[in-house]
Amino acid sequence: MIAIASDHGGFVLKQEIMAHLESKGVAFKDFGAFDDKAVDYPDYAKLVTSAIINGECSEGILICGTGIGISIAANKVAGIRCALCHDVFSAEATRLHNDANVLALGGRVIGPSHALRVVDAFLSTPFSNEERHINRIAKIEN
Ligand code: RB5
Repeated sequence: MIAIASDHGGFVLKQEIMAHLESKGVAFKDFGAFDDKAVDYPDYAKLVTSAIINGECSEGILICGTGIGISIAANKVAGIRCALCHDVFSAEATRLHNDANVLALGGRVIGPSHALRVVDAFLSTPFSNEERHINRIAKIEN
């Protein structure tokens, strides 16, 4: 189950991503925002990261205007590795190397069709499980 949330700056892109996930039969839970009224992105980062830490969801997608604020907020949570990616190479690499469990996107940065390719790359790439990457990730947590 994918956890997804955005602030007002990411609301439109979130709707596009959810329609895409639905069309592919990918299960997701929408943690808001439910309209484009101004809200605070850290609140939405908290909802998605909590769902991952408590095991309700396996991965998350967070969207704000730039993707920056919401990724900074998400990365404050122990066990969360949130990667801000606006290209397919980075989305694949962060899964392979960092075992990122949250993808952040900027709704005011990236167009919807490219964003969907980034989302697909993130969700379809497994962690490499290579020892050197496992060791490096462990050092992030310590
Ligand atoms: C909201 O205006 C904007 O600051 C937010 O969406 C995000 O870009 C913050 O990093």
